[in-house]
Order: sequence, then C-alpha cells, then structure tokens
Amino acid sequence: MTQAIGKPINRVDGRLKVTGDAKYSGEIPLENIAYGVIITSTIARGRIKHIDTSVAEKSPGVIGIITHLDAPKLYARPNFGHEGAAGEKLAPLQNSTIHYSGQAIGVAIADTLERATYAASLVKVDYEVETPLTEMGKERDRAYPIKKFVEFTVDFALGDAEGEFAKAAVKIEATYTTPTEHHNPMEPHATAAVWEGDCLTVYDSTQYIFGMRQGLAKMLGLPEANVRVLCKFIGGAFGCKYGMWAHTPLAAIAARQFRRPVKIVLTRQQMFGLVGHRSETEQQIKLGATPDGHLTALIHQGISQTSIFDEFVETFTTTSRTMYAVPNLRTAQSVVPLNKGTPTIMRAPGESVGTFALESAMDELAWALKLDPIELRLRNYAEVHPARQVPWSSKSLKECYALAAEKFGWSRRTPEPGSMRDDRYLIGMGMASACFPMEHFPASAIASIFADGSVVVQSGSQEIGTGTATVMAQVTADVLGVPVEKVRFEFGDTELARSPGTVGSGTAGSVGTAVHGAAKAVRAKVLELAQNDPNSPLYAVAETDIETDRERIFVKNNPAKGETYQAVLARHNLQQIDASFDAKPQEEEEFAKCSFGAHFVEVRVDPELGEVRVTRIVGAFAAGRILNEKTARSQISGATIMGIGMALHEETIADPRTGRTVNDNLAEYHLPVNADIPSIDVYFIDEVDTHVNPIGVKGVGEVGLTGMIAAIANAVYHATGKRIRDLPITPDKLL
Ligand code: MOS
Repeated sequence: MTQAIGKPINRVDGRLKVTGDAKYSGEIPLENIAYGVIITSTIARGRIKHIDTSVAEKSPGVIGIITHLDAPKLYARPNFGHEGAAGEKLAPLQNSTIHYSGQAIGVAIADTLERATYAASLVKVDYEVETPLTEMGKERDRAYPIKKFVEFTVDFALGDAEGEFAKAAVKIEATYTTPTEHHNPMEPHATAAVWEGDCLTVYDSTQYIFGMRQGLAKMLGLPEANVRVLCKFIGGAFGCKYGMWAHTPLAAIAARQFRRPVKIVLTRQQMFGLVGHRSETEQQIKLGATPDGHLTALIHQGISQTSIFDEFVETFTTTSRTMYAVPNLRTAQSVVPLNKGTPTIMRAPGESVGTFALESAMDELAWALKLDPIELRLRNYAEVHPARQVPWSSKSLKECYALAAEKFGWSRRTPEPGSMRDDRYLIGMGMASACFPMEHFPASAIASIFADGSVVVQSGSQEIGTGTATVMAQVTADVLGVPVEKVRFEFGDTELARSPGTVGSGTAGSVGTAVHGAAKAVRAKVLELAQNDPNSPLYAVAETDIETDRERIFVKNNPAKGETYQAVLARHNLQQIDASFDAKPQEEEEFAKCSFGAHFVEVRVDPELGEVRVTRIVGAFAAGRILNEKTARSQISGATIMGIGMALHEETIADPRTGRTVNDNLAEYHLPVNADIPSIDVYFIDEVDTHVNPIGVKGVGEVGLTGMIAAIANAVYHATGKRIRDLPITPDKLL
C-alpha cells in the first residue's frame, strides 16, 4: 500500500517559491494601486499638540494624508485572545494620545512608494512630551499579578513550595533575565485593501485570515460577511503576524477614503515597533532537592512587560508546571505596564525564555549535586503531569534523552568545567529538555474528487512556510489511496472552510484532522454510490471490508474486486463529489498532551575573546506522528536556530530616556546567519498517540526552541565555569 504520510517529500510550493512565481501579499498586482506609508510617533508618552500636513499634502503624487484629526471612527477590540486576532486593542488615529514610541499617528498615501515615503517625512508634529515609563526594573512596584492569561493559568500552587524550599537539603536560587526581542521574518508585514461598494477585500500577510476578518469587521463596524481576507504565501511569521496591528485597518480606511486600492508594506524599522515583540522577562527560580537529587520544591516567578493599554503576558512558567515530578510547586507572574508597544506571541511564547530559566537552574542543581544532568532529569521524570496529576497521552522523553545522548557522544564529556579543550579553545557540552503543550483548535475542511481523478482539499488556513500545504496533501492522499501529486490543498482565503490561526504548533493537528475527516467523508460518499449500484464490483460490500490504493477502492482480501474513483463518477455522470468535515478538539481532559525532546549542544569558547561558537547540535524529539520527516526536521532546525539567536545574539535595545529602539535594523539587531549555524542533527522518536487526534499529531513548530537556550548556556558553563543568567550571552559577559 502506498503511504505518503511520514515521507520526507519536498514542499509542494517549493518550485513556486524558488522561481519567484509565488506572489506574496505585497506583490499581488492590483489596478490603480496607491501606496501608504505610516507616520509614527517619535515620543513614547504624551500627546500631539499640533500636526501639520499642509506641506506634505502639496508634495508631488500625494493623494492624501490621514491623521487623528480626520480619521474615521474606528472601534477598539477586546484584549489578546478574546476575539479574533487581537494584536493591540488600540484603534489607530482616534485621538492625540501617545502611549509608545513608534505608535502610528498618520498615514501618507501617494501614487508611488517613494512619493508616499517623502510625503510622510514632510508631516510636522508638535508634541507635549511626558516622561515615559520605559524600564521594567525601575517600575517593578507598578507590577500587578496575573491569575490566568487566555487559557493559561499562571498563578498556581501545589503543596507548600516555600516551606519545603526552606527545609531543603540542597537549594538553588537564581534570577534569570531575558531581553526584548523582535520577530524579524524576512517578509515584513504587508497588506493591500480593495473596496467594492461596502465590501472589503484584504490581501494580508497574516497567520490568521479569519481572525483578521473578525478584527477588521469589528474595528470598521462592518458585518464579517463584507470582509474577505486572502493570504497565499508568507515569508515567515513567528507570532507577530497572528494579531492585527495598525497597518491593516489603516490601509482599509485609506482605500475607502481615496476610492482606490491601497497597499502598505512596513519598513524594517517599523517591524521594530508597530507589530509586537517578545517582552523582556525577569524570572526567579528556586529549586529544593534531597541529597540524592529528588526535587522537593520548585518555585518559578517573575515579571514581564505589557503596554499601558493592553494586557499581554509572556507565560514563562508553563514548563515549570509540566516538566518534572515535584510535590511542592508554585508559579506566579506579574506584568509591568510600560510606555512600549503591546508584546505578543513569539515562537514558543513563554516556554522559550521560561525553559532558559528552568533548564539552567536544573543544570545548576546537577552541578551542586555532582550528578550528571541527564541523570538528574531522569530522577525527576514526570510519569504523570505534575500539576494536573493526569497521565500523558504519550511521552517518549526518556527515549529522546537516550537517543540524542548516544548520537551526540555525551559519554565522551568530562564533567569538570573547563576540562575539555581543543588547542586554545575551551569546549563545552550542555543539554536540556524540551517541552511544548499540544494545542488543538476547531477547524473545517472540504474535500472534492473530480471526474479526471484529481483531488482538491481545502481549508481557509494559511501556509507560513512550515509545509502545511504539503502535509495536508499527504494526509488526503493516504485516506483516499491516491498519489500525493494528484492532491491539491487550497488555502489562504476566508471564502474557504473555516480554520484556526496558524499558531501554537497547532495547524498540522487541527487542520490535519479536518482534512482527514473531509477526505474520509468524500471517500465514503463515493463508496456509497458504488455500494448501492448493482453495476459496481463493490455492490453491497461493507465499508469495513474496503481498502483504497492506486486511486482505487477495492475489497481488502480481494484487490481485483474494485474500481477507480473515476469509474464511479463516470458511471454516475458526476463532474465532482464533495464532502465537508468540521473537526473539534478531542476533549480528553484525563490526559495531558505535550511534545517533548532533548537538546545536546557543543560550544567552543575563545578564552581570550569570550567568543562563543556553537559547533554541534543533536536533538531528539517525540511529537506523535511525524507527517513529513523533511518539513518536520526543518521546523525543528529553524526553531533551534532561533534558539541560537536568543542565546547568543538577539536583543532589542531601547533608550530609557525616550523609549526609542536604537537598533531597529538587521545590522545592529543581531540574528544568527549561516556562519553561526553548525550542523544540526534532528531525530524523531515515533509515537502512536490515539488520544490527541485521529491523525496522532502533537506538533513540531515550537518544541525545538524550548530548552535550546539553556542547552547553550549550560554548554558555556561547562566550557568556562561561568554561569550566564542574562541573555544574550555576549563576549563581554564571559571576560
Ligand atoms: Mo506562534 S508564537 O504560536 O506564531
């Protein structure tokens, strides 16, 4: 039997992308298009006293300038996670108040991008400046505690963690800090708005077309049915394209006002202010343990930033409630409102930086106990979910440790810090656990079989570059028993079946379940025609006796007895058969569901220059069924690379006096480049998990980033004996 699922097949859109035929949101050809350039605030707190657009308006090619003085009424939306794709709930250009530097205060529209850019520069603004609140550490007394953020409980207590920590024989207590970070996908946010009467069509680079539709409808005061959102290709998205930010409604109101399509593409500088970021964090961990390395208490608490007008929480304590068997557990988080933009989700939001703290602290405990870091983790292996006390739907973390350690050559490591050398370089080996909760969202799909034997399966969804279109074709192909080349996945349009946002590593499982269901439903329809047709070889054959392969439906024990889909359709004179399926999350609350993994990292540190190079990475991951080994590996590698960036390079720096980002470009905001990336070996442990969803998928988008930063920090400690608890690990901190 042919089997497409699991095969490392190439991306179905690979050719389109490398040849440039793939059209991204900013490249959709639209007649009579005008260009919008957003004008942003240069102060972080205060108000606009006076805004003068008169010179800008007379500039060549200018179609118009919109500011708060003449913008139409827009409606604010609820806070993050409560409705649609809330990015920031502030509706743009509604009054003169400024809450953060880089806030949208106007938009210039012209017949070319260059003329719009020039016009935007001619707008003169007088501000009444107030002293902005920009430093989290200095504003900590304004922090307020959070009970729960969206569906994540952060305020949690089990047993008496403080009491048991006080009594513990071995203690680790440390504070870990992580900086503000920006997403920086290669493709900046882009949008193009077109009106036909009262109906709006938006081509938008978004991770959530249906959320964008809902958000736009709400903000513009339109019925959702009047808004269509399309997104065919995305040049990367790590959470910043989930929410709706100012540029999309601004393009919509400009297009309406000037009666022509308007396109807005953010500049790289604007990517550092208009579309969210990962909040800085300050996290405290306390671990109490017995002398033989059993945890008796785990406390994880700390602060992150939010904006003045929104509440966003970087949920960094999640993994601490999930990872280790500990009878006394306490997590608590507070947020500090600052004159900065609203933070948002960024790949493994919370878990990425939270596991830096937790997995660094576990490494510190291993040193204190003189225990191998893997052994410490095995001694505290959570056989059930520690906070919820329910079993796992599946968990192969032990196998991940063993496989990755063996492939990495962990046994060659000599434990003493600074004990391994290569010429004048210090060599360090570190490891850490990875864990990401499985998310499953409602999703719908429609599958169609055509008279020529081709298959189309569709679900709104969006392809952020992960391989969604490819794996959906694979899932469909296997249900129907057709070659994967015969299947096309249609997506990226709110006219298609309703689907969730591409977030939380949840698309393969959620949309995959809908696609799987739709494919089964359409197969059943074809079969029913055959079963009821005396001219069919499958007349009166029960569904349980049926198998599909090579584009045929046939009797399991007698493959000759059967026929092709095409034959059934032809006999019934049908051009196509469709079936739809609405998939709901499998509510099995008696199970905890997570993807797990283990990272092993080797670093080489220059003792004179403090330079850290990651020289080898080996990881093993267990995430249920792997739909496509190639695209899944690529997800893990990509996340691993982001981990290198977060560990060693990335940091958004703001001037505390003005709240302005000073490194808002790719020259000064350091991202890892090819020269920073060693070979990355990724292994998967096969898991059959029937509790998560019918296709057994737990998700691979984010788990690869969790634990990665700590694995590097732990390797740096092993190399140098220096424990760096403040990211990024730059040379100055090692000298
Ligand atoms: Mo991801 S932060 O769920 O886009």
